Amino acid sequence: MAAHHSRSQFQRHFRRDEAPIPFTIDGIAYSGRRGDTVLVAIMSVTDRLRQSEFTSEPRAGFCLIGACQDCFVTLACGMRVRACTTPLEAQMAFITRESGNE
Ligand code: FES
Repeated sequence: MAAHHSRSQFQRHFRRDEAPIPFTIDGIAYSGRRGDTVLVAIMSVTDRLRQSEFTSEPRAGFCLIGACQDCFVTLACGMRVRACTTPLEAQMAFITRESGNE
């Protein structure tokens, strides 16, 4: 498991028995639960949503209500979605690293 995916920030207390929804982060397979937002799914398995494009600091969203734009994440197709207001869908593939920077 990649070092930056080593600790989850959210603890799931509810909806633990909902159907699993598979997704990937940088090619690593995870699963969320039906009804998760992208932010809940990612923060339940990692310690960040993304790195700041300005400081490289980890970011995890701020307002959690769709008002601040701190939670945009990038899909493998290049599309960016607001994690706190976007429902998790099966097979979403999130990219947190720029290709060619590894
Ligand atoms: S956390 Fe502010 S818009 Fe998502």
